[in-house]
Amino acid sequence: MKFSRHHLQKILNLVAAFFLFSSSIFATPISIPADLMKKNCTNVLDLAGRVWRQKIEIAKKSIRFRGVDSENVEAAYSAMTPKEFDLINGAQVWAERRLIPQAMNGRIPDGPALILDLGSGPASSTEIISFYSRPDWRIIGYDFAKPLVDRANKLSAEGAFKNFKGEIIRPEFVQQSITAPLRFSNRHIIPRNSVDFVNSSGVVGHHLDKGGLEVFAKSLWYVLKEDGYAAIDSGPVNKPEDIIMAMESAGFRYIESMNSYFIDFRPKLIFQKISSATILPQN
Ligand SMILES: C[S@@+](CC[C@H](N)C(=O)[O-])C[C@H]1O[C@@H](n2cnc3c(N)ncnc32)[C@H](O)[C@@H]1O
Repeated sequence: MKFSRHHLQKILNLVAAFFLFSSSIFATPISIPADLMKKNCTNVLDLAGRVWRQKIEIAKKSIRFRGVDSENVEAAYSAMTPKEFDLINGAQVWAERRLIPQAMNGRIPDGPALILDLGSGPASSTEIISFYSRPDWRIIGYDFAKPLVDRANKLSAEGAFKNFKGEIIRPEFVQQSITAPLRFSNRHIIPRNSVDFVNSSGVVGHHLDKGGLEVFAKSLWYVLKEDGYAAIDSGPVNKPEDIIMAMESAGFRYIESMNSYFIDFRPKLIFQKISSATILPQN
């Protein structure tokens, strides 16, 4: 049998596949020390103050950002000043400072990784992810509100995000809906089985309707690596049971739910992609 370029290409593909496969199997996941997990957490009195300020701000400006009508939601978030967003999102950030490190702990390989933050606002959740990250991770935040994405990209370019070692982390931010096929900032589609970890804070439980939730779950299954994890907040619209049903139907295993405090009506849910599940590819 003649050894052709075609055979060489096949061998190289097999070698590359072996290294990709073995690096994801053998890489030990990062673990976050307990004291670092509590680093940016404040007490429950701070939470009460944030909730109070949020109520005043919403009443004063009659800002209507709640609901699942994506046009209204996008317009409402786009119209907020940075100060208004911070006031309205204060309680959310308080909870995420406790939830995100718990969700990341032991679930991201100790090596280069691709991390997505879906519904990242002006980087309020991505900043927390960045704090626990490494400079060799690629972190991409997504939001459909252009002013928030522009603000987040500007902060990143200015070097505003640092990890716990003080190293500058440069997340990227892409303007698009999280129910559309996920893309890099150069508009290329994120390939199948390429993402290590997905976080989504304060979005899925608050702003996706049932159809959106289904599409979102399938899209996560498409981009996540085999056995990769997704951490998704529940909320008033999509309760834990709704999200678990949608994610399990899309080919995920439900792992656990996490609370920001001992009572939390909107826990963060952790899912792992089931390698053996066969789901139709993203359309
Ligand atoms: C409550 S904020 C949460 C921001 C951030 N994740 C955090 O935890 O602080 C919700 C964000 O989700 C965005 N959002 C809502 N629905 C979305 C959708 N379908 N696609 C993209 N972004 C969406 C809003 O524009 C807003 O910035």
